[in-house]
Formats: sequence, C-alpha cells, structure tokens
Amino acid sequence: MKDYKGWKFKGKELSYIKEVLSSDFKAKSSGTMNERLEVKFAKIHNQRYAVTANSGTSTLHMALNAFGVGHGDEVIIPGLTVAMCGYAVWQCGAVPVYADIKKDTFLIDPEDIQRKITKKTKAIMVVHLYGLMCDMTEIMKIAKKHNLFVLEDCAQCVFAKDEKKRIAGTIGDVGSWSFENSKHITTGDGGIVTTNNKILAKKMREFSCAGFRNVTASSGKVRIDRSKFQDPNWKRHNTLAYNYRLPEVAAAIGLAQIERKEFFLSKRILMGKKFREIIKSSKCDILINQVIPNKYTHSYYTFPCKFNGKKYGISWQTFRKKFIFFGGDGIYSAWQTVNNEPAFKRAKEKGLYSGSMKISNSYGWGEVKTGEKIQKVLMQFTTNQRNLSEMKKQEIALKKVLNYYRKKFNLI
Ligand SMILES: Cc1ncc(COP(=O)(O)O)c(C=O)c1O
Repeated sequence: MKDYKGWKFKGKELSYIKEVLSSDFKAKSSGTMNERLEVKFAKIHNQRYAVTANSGTSTLHMALNAFGVGHGDEVIIPGLTVAMCGYAVWQCGAVPVYADIKKDTFLIDPEDIQRKITKKTKAIMVVHLYGLMCDMTEIMKIAKKHNLFVLEDCAQCVFAKDEKKRIAGTIGDVGSWSFENSKHITTGDGGIVTTNNKILAKKMREFSCAGFRNVTASSGKVRIDRSKFQDPNWKRHNTLAYNYRLPEVAAAIGLAQIERKEFFLSKRILMGKKFREIIKSSKCDILINQVIPNKYTHSYYTFPCKFNGKKYGISWQTFRKKFIFFGGDGIYSAWQTVNNEPAFKRAKEKGLYSGSMKISNSYGWGEVKTGEKIQKVLMQFTTNQRNLSEMKKQEIALKKVLNYYRKKFNLI
C-alpha cells in the first residue's frame, strides 16, 4: 500500500485480495471471501443468514422475488427515494405504489402506507434514507395486520437504531444493503441481504446464483460433490434465475471494510452531529434540521435538512454556491420522486416493459404531495470527509454561509 493516497482502504483490503489471487480463487478452510463476509455480516446483525450480491439493487430484486412478488402484485415504496427501489419492483413485473413521506423526518409515512394498501399489495419496501430508520414499530403493526412482507432497504443506513435499540435491517423479513462506492462500507459495487428465514435465504441465494440447485441458505457453493457434478446425468439448475454474484475480490474488500465499520461510522456520525449543532445554534431558520425521533441513533449517510431560504429570496442553488465559496464540499439535492423520474413517467402511457415484453399495465400509482414538496427543498450535506481537517472546513463553511445570510437579512 506504499503508493496508496486514499483513506478508505487502510485495513486488510490488500492482504485479503492477495489471499484470493494467490489461491487461484480457491477457498481456504475458513471459506471463500464471500462466505467469510456473509458469516461476519450476519453475525454482527444477529441474523442467521446473509447472501452477498453484486449490487444493492440486485439485493432488493432478490428479496422481492423470494417474497413471491410477481406480475400484477403491488409493492409499496416511499415516493421519495432512489429510482432503484422502483426498478426492483419493475424487475419482478409488479407495480410500485408510492407512499408519501413525513414532512419532518423525510421518511415513509406509516399512515400513508395504510391508505395505499389494496388487495394486490404483497410487500412494503421501507427505505431507511440518509442514515435514519423509518418508524418500524408502526410499519410492522400494519404489515402484520395485512399479512405483508417487509423489506428494509438499508443501503444508506448502517447500524442505525430505533427507539427499541433494534438495528436497521433486522426487523422486517429481509434487510438489504448496498456496497456501492459512496456507501458507509464499500466494495466498489456490491450488496448483501440478511434474514432469519431459511426459506427466504435459500430462495434469494438460488435466484442470485443462476438457479444452481445445490446452493443452500448459508452456502453459495456450486460444486459440492465432484462425482455428482461431473456426471453427465447431473441436472444443475433448479429455477430460472439471475447471476448476481459478488466477485471474490470485491468480497475481500468488503470483509476488510466490515472490520473497520466503527471507524467509518463514527466519522460520519461526528460530521452529521456537527452540522446539526451548527444549524441548531444558528439563531435563524434558513436551514431546518430533520426531526430525529426520540431514542433513535442516526448513521448519517448524508446530513439531510430542509432549505427555507426562499422565505428570504435565496435560491437553493445560490445557497449551495455560497457554501462552496466558503470552502464547503458541495450539497446534494434529493432525487426526483420515483413517479417523477423520466424512466417511470415515460412508462405512464405505455405500461412497464422489459425489452419488448410488456410486464405490467401500470407504471405505478399513489400521490406523493409531501414528498414532491420536500424534494424541492431538501439539502444533503456530505459526511464522508477523509479526515478531521476536511470536516473542520465543512463546519466553518456552514457557519460562514449562515452568518453571511443572517447579517444580510438582519436576522441577528
Ligand atoms: C436507498 C438506496 N437503495 C438502493 C440503492 C441501490 O444500490 P446499488 O447502487 O448498489 O445498486 C441505493 C444506491 O444508491 C440507495 O441509496
């Protein structure tokens, strides 16, 4: 690692990659890198099974497929989330139903989930965005009442906890994470699911592993018994499926990253808390903090807040430019609500197609009025600075930009 200039891969990444390459991709007695990553990830989440995959979109698809979501079924997702949540529903030939969000937490509103349930609803995909968990207590009550599966998308939420100290991803039927390169823990691209349900684990494994019949809930081994596997009479594939496997080299990186999860997590939380404190003590209402419910622990994938500058004639874009002028890293907006992304909007007239095959008549339904309003004013500050001095720059920039506008508009 002598020439390595970065900060993220300072653990055992290189040595694990070397292990993979020097073994010619053969597993050690401790298992393949994928197995080691799965065992470790499941253990730290107190879950029985984990299955790695090549992305956090694939993992959502795997979970919905394992729930039996198919043609004509409806899956409730938050309207304000990344399009990939909607893609996973489309990939199953099902219909995304958009639930609105709460204006204070910016997360899916359990009351609107309840309103959007129909006879066709099969599952709820909750998305713990920005690093904060949704109201799982209410959502699980609704799911139980209507006999629905619950998928927790934790792509942005690592080791956050709710009011009962439950870890994100361990409450619903399946928890799903992304290891894409902006995430808390990264393998470049990748993902993982966890569950306590053996049947779901086996289904997810098989679906992501080309339908090989000899994979199990806890093992992705394909060639288990040579005398059988090399026999011309051996039938290999149980189900039509995808190949969503995570490469061993990527799993090696993931294993090393997990060993340093406290480091990655604590840095983000520190940055998030600093931003929050600055806004709280700013004595002005240009930025409004996200409400964090009592006793919740935030994992601050980003630092989200509401921009209220329109009240003073400041545009979102002008504020961002000023923040950068004062040394800030930049500010991300929220994504368009899924129903407003061109990919889904275009499907409105034509229905959902996969290639030339029409897989659904509906592009989805459900008003997302609050989500559309919040989308226009949401700001996401970055929390993945490389070191304390970079973090300090962000603090100073935020203080300066707020002071600048406070003085300009006599808000002191
Ligand atoms: C909330 C959420 N879900 C799903 C995904 C998809 O993950 P991936 O990019 O690994 O496919 C992302 C990635 O940005 C995400 O933020």
